[in-house]
Amino acid sequence: MDRYVVIGNPVAHSLSPAIHARFAALMQESIEYSTLPAPLDAFAATARAFFAQGGCGANVTLPFKVEAFALADHASDAARLAGAANFLMREGDRLVADNTDGAGLVADLTRNLGLALEGKRIAMLGAGGAARGVIAPLLQLAPRVLVVANRTRERAAALASHFAGLGPIEASGFPFEAQEPFDVIVNATSTSTHGQPLQLPEGIADASTFVYDMAYGPAARAFLGHAKSHGARASDGLGMLVEQAAESYRLWRGQRPPTREVLAELRARAS
Ligand code: ATR
Repeated sequence: MDRYVVIGNPVAHSLSPAIHARFAALMQESIEYSTLPAPLDAFAATARAFFAQGGCGANVTLPFKVEAFALADHASDAARLAGAANFLMREGDRLVADNTDGAGLVADLTRNLGLALEGKRIAMLGAGGAARGVIAPLLQLAPRVLVVANRTRERAAALASHFAGLGPIEASGFPFEAQEPFDVIVNATSTSTHGQPLQLPEGIADASTFVYDMAYGPAARAFLGHAKSHGARASDGLGMLVEQAAESYRLWRGQRPPTREVLAELRARAS
């Protein structure tokens, strides 16, 4: 049976095995997908051993996405632009890296949540690895502007100059004084995950704004509640998780599994 894993540390509570099991059932395919914890100082050895033993593909989660990119013999444009990979696949004797996080976010925003981003003003809060991984696909949607706002302004400026060739991107410190509310705000900081919900600056969001947290479940609740208190509509990142998984499944196996039902099941289970 074709074997897949998600490698991370910690990884025991990952939803990926359950998501891929549902995809395989819906596609009427048999695959094995499990978690593979790697010691913090031994990602490369763990991944190499998995592929040497016949593993077909791996998702890679925190804190190994940059190492996964470095390990591969070949990287897609998406992985190169992100400087990080959440996806590995054996192709003959080559290890190929890709990054499906951006495609996952875009699929959730546009298909599941029905947002049209062309000509819109988007704010990206945070300038770490999570932000970097999704900027290029957001710029491909031709927003009016993508403002990267980060506590450490220099990191936002570095990202803005890295991606300047792909579309209208600006840098800002955080918090900042917003001249007018944004159409879409994406929280890509690690604050929800670390249990220190971010506060939105005055004027950044109103009832016309959609606020998205890349974290999901209870971790995102406080921030999303705060966003709703500005009148904004809001969503956590569970859909992004499911969509990046579907994109991984497609790259490994050639066909994209349906996601709506799987996302609805996970939401029902969480509530
Ligand atoms: P990740 O790979 O999850 O993006 P990271 O590279 O450590 O992790 O980046 C974390 C992001 O969350 C950064 O943008 C960080 O801001 P700084 O660059 O100023 O450190 C942001 N962040 C973390 N804690 C924060 C806080 N309390 N307030 C605002 N931003 C915060």
